[in-house]
Amino acid sequence: MHSKQIRQTFLDFFKERNHKIVPSAPMVIKNDPTLMFTNAGMNQFKDAFLGHQEAIWPRIADTQKCLRVSGKHNDLEDVGKDTYHHTMFEMLGNWSFGDYFKKEAIEWSWELLVDKFGLDKERLYATVFGGDEKEGLARDMESFDFWKQILPEERILFGSKKDNFWEMGDSGPCGPCTEIHYDMRPAEDVVGVPGSSLVNNDHPEVIEIWNNVFMEFNRLASGELVKLPAQHVDTGMGFERLCRAIQGKRSNYDSDVFTPLLDRIAQLTGLQYGVDEKTDIAFRVVADHIRAIAFAISDGQLPSNNKAGYVIRRILRRAVRYGFSFLGMKEPFIFELIDVLSGQFYDVFPDLTAQKDFIAKVVREEENGFLRTLDAGIKKLETYFEGKETGTIAGADAFELYDTFGFPLDLTSLIASENGWMVDEAGFEQAMTKQKERSRAASATEVGDWVELVPNASSAFVGYDVLEADTRMLKYRHVVQKGDAFTQIILEVNPFYAESGGQVGDIGSLTRKVGTTDFNLPIIDCKKENGQHLLITPLAEAEYLGAEVIWKASVDAQNRQSTNANHTSTHLLQAALKMHLGSHIEQKGSLVSPTELRFDFSHPAKVTKEELQKVVATIKQKIAANIPFTEVRYSKLEDAKAAGVTALFGEKYDSLVRQVIFDRGYSAELCGGTHVQSTAAIGQFIILSEGSVSTGVRRITAITGVEAERYIEAKLAELEQVSALLQATTTVETEVQKLLEQNASMAKRLKEAAEQQVAQFIAKVRAEGSDLFLAQLVAFDADQIKNISFSLGKKYPRAIVILGSAVADKPFISVYLGQQIAEAGSLDARVMIKELAKHIQGGGGGQAFYATAGGKNLAGLPDAINAAKQYAQHILQ
Ligand code: SER
Repeated sequence: MHSKQIRQTFLDFFKERNHKIVPSAPMVIKNDPTLMFTNAGMNQFKDAFLGHQEAIWPRIADTQKCLRVSGKHNDLEDVGKDTYHHTMFEMLGNWSFGDYFKKEAIEWSWELLVDKFGLDKERLYATVFGGDEKEGLARDMESFDFWKQILPEERILFGSKKDNFWEMGDSGPCGPCTEIHYDMRPAEDVVGVPGSSLVNNDHPEVIEIWNNVFMEFNRLASGELVKLPAQHVDTGMGFERLCRAIQGKRSNYDSDVFTPLLDRIAQLTGLQYGVDEKTDIAFRVVADHIRAIAFAISDGQLPSNNKAGYVIRRILRRAVRYGFSFLGMKEPFIFELIDVLSGQFYDVFPDLTAQKDFIAKVVREEENGFLRTLDAGIKKLETYFEGKETGTIAGADAFELYDTFGFPLDLTSLIASENGWMVDEAGFEQAMTKQKERSRAASATEVGDWVELVPNASSAFVGYDVLEADTRMLKYRHVVQKGDAFTQIILEVNPFYAESGGQVGDIGSLTRKVGTTDFNLPIIDCKKENGQHLLITPLAEAEYLGAEVIWKASVDAQNRQSTNANHTSTHLLQAALKMHLGSHIEQKGSLVSPTELRFDFSHPAKVTKEELQKVVATIKQKIAANIPFTEVRYSKLEDAKAAGVTALFGEKYDSLVRQVIFDRGYSAELCGGTHVQSTAAIGQFIILSEGSVSTGVRRITAITGVEAERYIEAKLAELEQVSALLQATTTVETEVQKLLEQNASMAKRLKEAAEQQVAQFIAKVRAEGSDLFLAQLVAFDADQIKNISFSLGKKYPRAIVILGSAVADKPFISVYLGQQIAEAGSLDARVMIKELAKHIQGGGGGQAFYATAGGKNLAGLPDAINAAKQYAQHILQ
């Protein structure tokens, strides 16, 4: 079976069993502070498990792009070294939301693997949760009994909490699981060593292929387990492992998921896969990592220097460095694999194919950049080795290479050993631990558990329609972030917009009466977590947060209005860019705050002045036309897409989406943000900057409304001041032009005068005929003095030139040694200048043949020259 067929068979199997097939969620997670990347198929259903949101269908199945490179599930360091872990992988999953449970899940998994996929049933093993006393959890006898009807008892194994109790992260939904393992060893290896002894023992050919989790609990931040309102099924099967098992291969990389990539790498490097273990590891690293990188970029996560972007950059660098060290690739080549991926996935994950040129360009630039950094790091290492047979690289230096040049320790060790050197690895680890502690302390967050005030009530966002509401508080919790304490609050009726889609969170207040006075909680931000709106206030005492109280929730209207103007302007801007630069324009990032808007978009070149002028003219025209805001608040995603509404790559859209329209023929976007009622409310629109943010991505920043008015007023005031200063009788421009011309001609005259002075001085001292040139000059600057010294040196190879001068009322001295004197080696200008500088209370330095010093004591200049005279005469004797 081809991998495409395998994927389809899985989806069809569950479709026939009444599951709704949904698309993969983006691999990059945007609105969940507890998770950077999708690490399991169930992530997108977390809210449904927790009971925060109803599932769109009681049974769902899909193939989900996952990335396990950070947090609780991190396989990065194993990837490439073994043959069955990956950074990015597809997880085939089926889910039941309070519908079927253990029996069906177990029976269906067996039926699919054995009857549809033809796996050898004698080689399948099941593990079942063996209970955990500390957690107060019993053995999962129910699953055991279901398995017993299918498998002989010796192939059902009880496992520990580590292996058979699945948790998404430190907190969140979790439950006991039953895993299916497959023994893929060659027949001769099976004799005498039962597969059951190898299950969960890191054997590369006896591996887990499918995990069936029975979600029954929520792990709270405090560590406590609480029962979920309903029982769910969450299964995940590693697609790449499944393909290998069905295709009878000994490694995931030998299945047709990876062979096209390995073949292309062989072509690009001129090397062969399967010949040498070191080279093979590098082949696997590159083949694996390019998938993670390409899908991350296609989901909108560009490599960068922080957070998720940095994780992606580091994966890419790991691939570059394996290519560099073990495949001999000193030039970018990984980007060439994007075409292969696009060919493999055009029908499964079409976003990648749609953006393949852009992705390749970004990867190529990143490769280039890191190869240059590697080069610089290697040069730095070489300075270590210079002139010494052997030695040890200090831990701190190895760490600096890691930290600033991205050199992993093993690369530094490799290069060191090739040069007969060693690395202080313990010192490196120490430096690493210290830095980790520093960054942990800097970003430490303590999240308390929710205090429920009104249990089982749901929260509604009303902020599209009103800015005020009388409401109850549903729950709150305390959070300490970087040393500051906050309280997060969830309201029953909430008018506050939570930061998302680039738009910042609303600010405002919650007020209520306490006795006769108003009690006020300032709301300083509003963020989204797991689909919930969290209002954030500085730490609030529990005694004020009672259950039966009605609060007045008020959004700061002025702040919201400015934000609206910037958000609508961002839509007008995107449409204008598409109109004047072309339909390739894709949003790559956006910030909408009350003070400015920042819009990042893909475009291969600088936006020219003329293009920008056209863009601005269109936006101004759309503002003047006073186009009314219209929305389709609940539109089917398919309908919106069919209507040509602009959607974002890498955005997780629900099946019901909101269309925001400013003249359907001009701008229609899928958007959850807030907007002006009609475009004239924007008022002014001014672009402040246009520039590059990363490869192929440009950024425009702009201001609107009140902010733009203020900007214009400030500019006018500045112009008036300048005009007054110039005592302008004509326009400021003409006056400044005049000044510039005067300035240029004065500078020219000054330069000529200085050159004349130098020439005169040289002519004069030349007449004296000695090799020692000593003088105290007046108002010669450092350049002139250098000029004089070097001119004399050219003419008199035995010259010693010592000059002093007052440069802008500060003493300045210089020592120059002609070539013959310098080469003789007994004099050093740096030593001499140090001595002389004492007289002027200064310091300086330079090279052995020319050194200079500035000082504070102008009165000491004659002393310095006198001392120089004695010094030089003494030497010349
Ligand atoms: N959540 C489980 C896993 O990731 C099953 O989908 O293994």
